[in-house]
Amino acid sequence: MALLHDDLRTMNTRANSVESIVVPHGQVLAAENKSVVSQFAQKERIQIAFYNENRKLIFATAGKEKNTLDQMDGMHQSGDSLIYIKTLKNDSRPDVSLKITGPKTTIVGLNLVYFFFVALGIAVLAYRDYLVRSYSRPIRFAARMGENLLEGSYNMIASDSVKRESILRLNLAMNRISDAMHELHRSYTRQQDSMSTLIENIGNGLIFIDGVGRINYVNQTFKEDFQTSASHWELADYHEVVPYEEVRELIDEAFETKEKLVRQLQLSVHIERKHFDVSCAPVLNKHNKVRGIVVVFHDITAIKKLENTRKDFVANVSHELRTPVTSLVGFAETLIDGAIDDKELRDQFLHIMLHEGRRLQSLITDLLELSKIEREHFKLQLSQVSLSNVLDSVLFMLKGKAEAKKIRLSHLQGNEGLIMGDAFRIRQIMINLITNAISYTPENGTVSVSIHERKQEADFIVADNGMGIEKDQIPRIFERFYRVDKARSRDSGGTGLGLAIVKHLVEAHGGRIHVDSELGKGSTFTITFKKSPSLIG
Ligand SMILES: Nc1ncnc2c1ncn2[C@@H]1O[C@H](COP(=O)(O)OP(=O)(O)O)[C@@H](O)[C@H]1O
Ligand SMILES: [Mg+2]
Repeated sequence: MALLHDDLRTMNTRANSVESIVVPHGQVLAAENKSVVSQFAQKERIQIAFYNENRKLIFATAGKEKNTLDQMDGMHQSGDSLIYIKTLKNDSRPDVSLKITGPKTTIVGLNLVYFFFVALGIAVLAYRDYLVRSYSRPIRFAARMGENLLEGSYNMIASDSVKRESILRLNLAMNRISDAMHELHRSYTRQQDSMSTLIENIGNGLIFIDGVGRINYVNQTFKEDFQTSASHWELADYHEVVPYEEVRELIDEAFETKEKLVRQLQLSVHIERKHFDVSCAPVLNKHNKVRGIVVVFHDITAIKKLENTRKDFVANVSHELRTPVTSLVGFAETLIDGAIDDKELRDQFLHIMLHEGRRLQSLITDLLELSKIEREHFKLQLSQVSLSNVLDSVLFMLKGKAEAKKIRLSHLQGNEGLIMGDAFRIRQIMINLITNAISYTPENGTVSVSIHERKQEADFIVADNGMGIEKDQIPRIFERFYRVDKARSRDSGGTGLGLAIVKHLVEAHGGRIHVDSELGKGSTFTITFKKSPSLIG
């Protein structure tokens, strides 16, 4: 309606202009104004026509006009054109009708375009508002969910029952991202856990140096092996904190050569010299640049020690064997060379040879015994054993030996000592200890043995009033072939392996050994056996 009104107003204004041209003084002046009217029509892009009182055409500016005016005053529409008719009042002569024809587009069309744009604008605004409202909530939710994911919280779930497809896809994608990130996080944590468990329990000292030579990580074993807290090491240059030149050089070399290097190094840790297998493994990126170096310290001190013990052992065994063999060969040669004819000499030599032969025999027996006991799969034949019963039979066997040295061997009153153990091995323990007590006690001495039972344990005690052992020697007498007084020990017929065998057997029983001794006054060996759980009452 507003548009029609606008058209009407425009047409009205035009009609008034034409009227003011052609009716200046109440009279329609036709001829002299025709050109002015034509100019106006041209300027306004309209057509102007005049009709007389009989509605017959008087004048038209351009184009074809019907000769007769059919329409009445007012606005009319004809196809694309608008027609406006107005009666011009003529004072003296009859009235004249004015007809203005103009194209609709220039007048109404323009407004339509405006209207369209305004409507479109409003529609766009409304739609935008609608879109903003319907998208902003899920987007805000997605944003919050994303922030939570970044902070490591995976408990938000986007709705999967929304109608709008794009939002549904967004929600499903967010849920999948959340699931994937959660799984990633879990597997990362798992990996990190197993990695740190591995690094901490690898049993070797480990340091990790980054590509520019800063120490990134030092594990607990390293700190223990090198007795350092190493807290000042983190992020320090390895040149400044690693206290061993050999190690620093090895790391330098690994940086240069980009190759894994392994070297056996002897490093001082406080008062000790320790042996390590040090390996430097560079971590390379795909451009073959060193990203870091893993240095692993494998403590082989114990292995080295064992290696040395083994070497010592072989030397000791050879030495122990050589003495009786040399003696045997020597006397045999002397006999062959003629001593065999001297009866007295021959008997004396044969006795020595028998003695040496027996020594050799017992040495070989003990060696075989020790190697059997030390074997990894050595097993005790466990049964219920009465310590006092075993002791009685051992005393019966050793009675003669004690008597020969005029030593009083007595079984003191005590308990029965029921334990779970290997009777044969317990017998071995007792024989070795009592033989020692007899051997290292001078004539007329005393050796007393006893069994003491307690609630969960039973003690076997051998006490002598013999030569005794110096305090600092006590831990050493259990070593193989260790003797406090070498010459005297060999004379006593010992092999140097007795206590080593005792120690192994007691340990196999889960027992303990305690030695009390005073030089010149005597020694007391106490073996503590555990009673088996079923016997504890
Ligand atoms: N009862 C004891 N009194 C003094 N010294 C002892 C006693 N028992 C063992 N020893 C010392 O311990 C060393 C090791 O004993 P052992 O292993 O039985 O070897 P062996 O008796 O063959 O020498 C002996 O050589 C001796 O010096
Ligand atoms: Mg002995």
